[in-house]
Amino acid sequence: MKNLLVTGGCGFIGANFIHYLLSEADFDGRVINVDNLTYAGNPENLTDLPEDALQRYHFVKADICDEAAMAKVFDDFNIDSICHFAAESHVDRSIVSPDAFIQTNVNGTFGLLELARRHQDRLVLFHHISTDEVFGELGDEGAFTETTPYNPSSPYSASKAASDHLVRAYSRTYDLPVTISNCSNNYGPCQFPEKLIPLMILNALEGKALPVYGDGTNVRDWLYVKDHCRAIWTVMQHGRRGETYNVGGRCEKANLDVVKIICRTLDDTVPPLDQGRREALIHFVKDRPGHDFRYAIDCSKLERDLGWTPAESFETGIDKTIRWYLDHRGWVDRVISGEYQKWIDEHYH
Ligand code: NAD
Ligand code: DAU
Repeated sequence: MKNLLVTGGCGFIGANFIHYLLSEADFDGRVINVDNLTYAGNPENLTDLPEDALQRYHFVKADICDEAAMAKVFDDFNIDSICHFAAESHVDRSIVSPDAFIQTNVNGTFGLLELARRHQDRLVLFHHISTDEVFGELGDEGAFTETTPYNPSSPYSASKAASDHLVRAYSRTYDLPVTISNCSNNYGPCQFPEKLIPLMILNALEGKALPVYGDGTNVRDWLYVKDHCRAIWTVMQHGRRGETYNVGGRCEKANLDVVKIICRTLDDTVPPLDQGRREALIHFVKDRPGHDFRYAIDCSKLERDLGWTPAESFETGIDKTIRWYLDHRGWVDRVISGEYQKWIDEHYH
């Protein structure tokens, strides 16, 4: 893997992955980041790459659905491998307007697969980033394995399931060298504050309401983003072609407990609010339609076959995450005010 195309590298996980790959991992090739900078794409997530990493980093603003632009990227950079993050990623948005999810997550993945097939002579790997949400919901017991049948609930998870099926089909039919990873909920630096953890951190800091869907008993299995990045690179290097790997933190928490931990940590770290303790800001709001009750990942295949284990516990990971948001008020202000989009407009439109 000398010329690695990373799609969606200006988003939350993609940016963390590029940092990890160029600064810490055993990788000496180039990263070509293709991102069309939707509301979730922020080039600022990569401005602090170290100088030596910057020399191996290239950015192209393009839509993965733009066939001609993507063909040019393949030719210009002699792409030999792909790590495909680009997607519409927020379940709530998919419920309100599913169109972009089908376009990017399904059609965009299809276009990339076709391009990869056309360059199969030099293609080392197509790694597809997916989610545990393709498996649907669990009750109180059990965990998703790689053989759990797909049963997606939301337009987002259905679009990711469709893309997974396409990637598997290209492996079976055309012998395209693919791997897939299905990961649970990530948290950490640079996550857009529409997702539970950054939204709650920032609202709790400012004394705003903390909207918990339903009764807050829905369970998610949390993984610190850098552990996910290490898992992806482990699978890309050592995973068996044609196989899928589940990635998770063995860290199940009810949403209400997550919000309470954030409130308590902030109460202990930053000045108190006039309203008193931050838990008082919790408001139970109307539930998400089709809200999956519980996710839990059985990641023993990745642990057993490839030797990966998560390094962070929820306690260490959430402390680092809260510290990151406290230390990056400029990033937060530019994202919340929308100023980051003005910067993008000035530089790219
Ligand atoms: P994100 O929304 O933060 O970032 C998505 C990135 O993709 C953005 O930079 C955006 O500009 C870019 N993008 C969107 N449409 C594009 C298009 N048509 N062309 C080019 N770029 C486009 O998402 P994330 O949370 O970083 O998730 C990344 C991937 O990981 C997604 O495939 C998601 O399904 C998957 N995933 C996410 C989680 C999680 O907890 N966040 C967990 C498991 C899997
Ligand atoms: O499981 C992996 C998935 O995790 C990824 O594939 C998705 O891209 C990612 O967005 C995430 O999906 P969720 O829907 O689980 O994440 P979200 O942060 O939106 O919500 C987490 C839980 O918190 C979920 O049960 C809904 C609840 N929630 C969320 C928000 C934004 C609230 O109670 N209140 C909120 O305001």
